[in-house]
Amino acid sequence: MMEYGYPKGHVFYRKLTRTYPLITHGEGIYLYDEKGKRYIDGSGGALVVNIGHGQKEITQKVSEQMGQVGYVHGTQFTTKSIEEYGEALGELLPKGLGKIYFLSGGSESIEAAIKLARQYFLESGQSQRWRVVARWHSYHGNTLGALSLTGRISMRRPYLPLLIDFPHFPPPYCYRCPFGLTYPECGLECAKVLEHVIRMEGAETISAVILEPILGATIGAVVPPDGYLSIIKEICDRYGIFLIDDEVMTGMGRTGRWFAVEHWGISPDIMVLGKGMSSGYFPLSAMITRGEYVDRLKEKTGGFVHGHTFSHHPVACTVGLAVIDHIKKNQLVEKSSSRGEYLLRRLEELKDFPFVGDVRGKGLMTAIEFVKDQKTKEPFPRTAKFTERVIDSVFEHGLVLYPGTGFVDGVNGDMVMIGPPLIIEESQIDEVIDILKKTFSKME
Ligand SMILES: Cc1ncc(COP(=O)(O)O)c(C=O)c1O
Repeated sequence: MMEYGYPKGHVFYRKLTRTYPLITHGEGIYLYDEKGKRYIDGSGGALVVNIGHGQKEITQKVSEQMGQVGYVHGTQFTTKSIEEYGEALGELLPKGLGKIYFLSGGSESIEAAIKLARQYFLESGQSQRWRVVARWHSYHGNTLGALSLTGRISMRRPYLPLLIDFPHFPPPYCYRCPFGLTYPECGLECAKVLEHVIRMEGAETISAVILEPILGATIGAVVPPDGYLSIIKEICDRYGIFLIDDEVMTGMGRTGRWFAVEHWGISPDIMVLGKGMSSGYFPLSAMITRGEYVDRLKEKTGGFVHGHTFSHHPVACTVGLAVIDHIKKNQLVEKSSSRGEYLLRRLEELKDFPFVGDVRGKGLMTAIEFVKDQKTKEPFPRTAKFTERVIDSVFEHGLVLYPGTGFVDGVNGDMVMIGPPLIIEESQIDEVIDILKKTFSKME
């Protein structure tokens, strides 16, 4: 059988030191390769595949749309699919958000959010406001603006000279509190410190604060304690600073609500979506904001000084609408909540293994953090490549998970994320747990 992937052929793959199985098809939570091996897509790629693989109604609607018109330019035309998707998504949004700018990737939409905040303040007589405050251990993407916000040291380091000087503050990582405190006696110091950072940096220079309501790809499903987000929002409001809610991973039902901020009743100024919007069937993301901010741009310059060839894509919007229909019809937001509780309960059992330090998450966005010592929480040295060993072992057993390393101190720190399609059944969650237990027993 032919080996695919590096170094054969012309494709410049993301991982240069491994070969890639060739996937022939997917169905539900499963992927199948050309040798007939079945994989449970336990992380839906990178927590993308919300409605599962091989949903025929998506392909049918895409084919219809492509048959009508495959592309129009975003400055010249619109289509029924763009309009209808805008209405359907608009109805779901948290109060106050109403204008949706469709794009094709999470990073792209983060760039649009930074720019929208900047242009709004420029056109509101506050031209000194341009900097965005972000958090360490966050993930906002890999383009240079988004990477400047991202708090993942290993990805930033090679490109530091190219990055923008955006300030960072510590995340609400209770398992290893950056202030050495314990909730609730801590008084949510991790939220209050934002005010200190803003004042030190010069509040008048800050356009926005950006955060993932539940931290994802860099650190693994870290849920903030109750009260955290409302303090952050109150500080932003007091200093006239936008709150950008990055829901690229958490949005579209992943955490048991349509959007994770709903768990805490927060209404942001800008929201960014991606990943699960299309469930991976087509590149699709969005930057969403309040009507009054867009009105300001309309009154002043007449438009948003921004644009991409593939923004407002008619086929992408067809997919987005079909995904919303599917989620509603199959009550996947509710399922994400109940199956998520079941998954988290079952993950708790893994704490019997001495190297499982923490299990955490909300809805079907969960993670396991590994430690060398459960009591002291000492991480494994990076040279042990613990996460990589877990990922490779479960892969052999036909389970795909999403890895993360380096979040404890920039070098060490091991976790895997479990974020399966929202259609997963309890018996399939049991399958995932069985594979994890089998793998962990061997590793022990
Ligand atoms: C919270 C968050 N924001 C932004 C991004 C960047 O999205 P993309 O990889 O589609 O550019 C990601 C991707 O993992 C993400 O998790």
